[in-house]
Amino acid sequence: MTQPKVFITRRWPESIEAKLKQCFDVTLNETDRPLSADEFKAALQNYDAVCPAVCDSFTAEVLNTPNQRCKILANFGVGYNHIDMAAAKAQGLIVTNTPGVLTHSTADIAMTLLLMSARRGAEGDRLVRNKQWQGWCPTHMLSSNVTGATLGLIGFGRIAQAMARKAHHGFDMNILYYKPSEADEYVVDDLQATRCASIEELLEKSDFVSLHCPGNAETHHLINAERLALMQPTAHLINTARGDVVDTQALISALENQHIAGAGLDVYEGEPNVPDALLALENVALLPHLGSATLSTRTAMGEKALLNLEAYFSGQPLPNQII
Ligand code: DGY
Repeated sequence: MTQPKVFITRRWPESIEAKLKQCFDVTLNETDRPLSADEFKAALQNYDAVCPAVCDSFTAEVLNTPNQRCKILANFGVGYNHIDMAAAKAQGLIVTNTPGVLTHSTADIAMTLLLMSARRGAEGDRLVRNKQWQGWCPTHMLSSNVTGATLGLIGFGRIAQAMARKAHHGFDMNILYYKPSEADEYVVDDLQATRCASIEELLEKSDFVSLHCPGNAETHHLINAERLALMQPTAHLINTARGDVVDTQALISALENQHIAGAGLDVYEGEPNVPDALLALENVALLPHLGSATLSTRTAMGEKALLNLEAYFSGQPLPNQII
């Protein structure tokens, strides 16, 4: 029997690529370079399934390609703001994602950024590397306590709750959260978490604000100049969600003018391009979208995508179907 033809846009961990090759007629992007819109269009026309990663823009223009052979986009990632869902739906494409398996690694990176921002970790590293360290002194690089401080989480899904557990049980932090409805009672009890009635209330009361909402039209620039102005001058903003949840120019101004103390970012508007004005700031810790970047998490993400493909091609219910 001929195997379904599957196109993988970027390299995946070796073990999962090997499994894919056992099940399907797989084409890999051997050199792992970012592909162009035209290459995505050709993939939609020539393969039964295409597996994009979160760095690939499947815009309406790409998805409106005529004469498509592709029936399913098995996304390598939980976020799907890089795929125009309306256009995918109009084409009758199935789209799946990889929820659940990147919760802890992403929460770990959010906590890493919180600690780096609070304790000026990136700045200290640069100082030592640049041979500018003059030695210990009582007033050198003073920073903010994490233990016992208040963490406010905007969005309170799996990743936010995992971060809250690390922060509360590991660092004795007080937990505030904002989501439209109350969280489950057992979660609230375990974390002694308090729901804020509004994002504004959470911003005013938090020492650290961590973003955990999906990237979409509703959350675009959710954190803007007005909202940044509500944060305390000693507070830090952490973003491991999506870059465009924050108005970057407003954040740069808030950091430049020290309206907030610092920020820790793993995601960016228009990544991988990062504005020079952000790069020039000492009070921001910058990571290159590493949230899910552990070997076991990336392998588990591949396993999820594989399960979705296998289910589709064997006519079974899809474990993680978005549309
Ligand atoms: C996702 O899966 O959406 C993450 O951003 C990848 O790290």
